Amino acid sequence: MTQLIAGNWKMNGTLDANVALLGALAAGLGPQTPAQVAVCIPAPYWAQFRVLAAQHPGLKAVALGAQDVSAHASGAYTGELSAAMLKDFGCRYAIVGHSERRQYHGETDAVVAAKAQQALAHGMTPIVCLGETLEQREAGQTFEVVKRQLAAVIHINGHCINEIVVAYEPIWAIGTGKTASIEQAQEVHARLREQLKAASAQAERIKILYGGSMNAGNAAGLLAQADIDGGLIGGASLKAADFLAIIGAAR
Ligand code: 13P
Repeated sequence: MTQLIAGNWKMNGTLDANVALLGALAAGLGPQTPAQVAVCIPAPYWAQFRVLAAQHPGLKAVALGAQDVSAHASGAYTGELSAAMLKDFGCRYAIVGHSERRQYHGETDAVVAAKAQQALAHGMTPIVCLGETLEQREAGQTFEVVKRQLAAVIHINGHCINEIVVAYEPIWAIGTGKTASIEQAQEVHARLREQLKAASAQAERIKILYGGSMNAGNAAGLLAQADIDGGLIGGASLKAADFLAIIGAAR
């Protein structure tokens, strides 16, 4: 399957810095790339992305993504952004359940599943993030934790899970420079694939991305694994040369 390389800019960017980063990305990408590419950028810059994408042929193949979406459709939820709003701005993807949202904003498995449902209902692809803490890994609970997180999403989304993307992001590997080893990542991905297979006859086409200190140096090894279908890239997506190198390593 075509791999997906998605950048998660997190809370980074300025109008000027975005022009430089997206311009460099456009210059380095042809109108077509073998991999699918997305950038999940802060909401205030979605309009800017659309203007730049109209100017740069190199951004034609780059999809826009959000970093979160509300679990509610509309109404009195101050500060929240609805799936309909994401759709209005041309978002193709919405990250849901990133560990930073689970940790700092108290998002539960049920809330994450409802967010995925909102994205799906509006024709977008939720990138559902899962992952264990270092403490959980050391206690031998990795499979149990990611299984529970994914099960919540499968439970309320039924056959629609064929349209999701899963991202395995071990929390201890995020922003730490400590990547999961190729074996550790593939092992968890294979388990997630089994779980998806039990829920869907089309599980082979559901992308499972790896995230956590993926960079230009380690991307090729990770992306060569049977059950690793792409990457969710934090820090390295903020440097055009690094992000382009990761895209170049994808198939
Ligand atoms: P880093 O690539 O900076 O470790 O971040 C990974 C991540 O959290 C992507 O969502």
